[in-house]
Amino acid sequence: MSRARVAVLISGAGSNMKALIEASRDPAFPAEIVCVVSNRPEAAGLALAESLGVEALAIDHRPFARDREAHERAIDAALRARGIEWVALAGYMRLLTPFLVEAWAGRMLNIHPSLLPEYPGLDTHQRVLDAGCDWHGCTVHQVIHEMDAGPIVGQARVPVLAGDDAAALAVRVQAAEHRLYPLCLAAAVEGRTEPIRLEAA
Ligand code: GRF
Repeated sequence: MSRARVAVLISGAGSNMKALIEASRDPAFPAEIVCVVSNRPEAAGLALAESLGVEALAIDHRPFARDREAHERAIDAALRARGIEWVALAGYMRLLTPFLVEAWAGRMLNIHPSLLPEYPGLDTHQRVLDAGCDWHGCTVHQVIHEMDAGPIVGQARVPVLAGDDAAALAVRVQAAEHRLYPLCLAAAVEGRTEPIRLEAA
């Protein structure tokens, strides 16, 4: 079986990246994590990727401060040089320009910590608590020009429990993210379009 060649783009800890790498260790998983790219050379996820045996590249955005697209062209060139077929954004904290979105249209996923279309943007856990919601969760979606939007590949629902603060809720949502993202990456590369729905404890 030929497996889809995937790059994971990160900016931070890389816990979702780790979940994807670990899932891809199963030869039956339809995708292989070929490399990890961070715009922040100090991102802890880079060392984590290396420790898991995956090539880790830092492509710092700061030298490109005046030209966001040039930074993305450098990333795109690195991906193409490695024969990458799919891109998984996993805590990649840069807004994308139309260049990268169009270059990978239909082959780029993102994970967001809310049940989209509810709560796009930052600080989702606190906003969900402030609104008094009973449910929260996470979404894997195809990347389009609009931020935190695009066709939904899958969602996991997580209960909001009495006494939760944002940190406690974040831990519960992240555990769901780590289950959801590998399932969604597998579905996407296999061309399955029925959205995945998980309910987490
Ligand atoms: C995740 O919560 C994800 O939903 C959001 O950024 C966070 C990344 O965490 N887009 P990690 O780097 O995967 O640990």
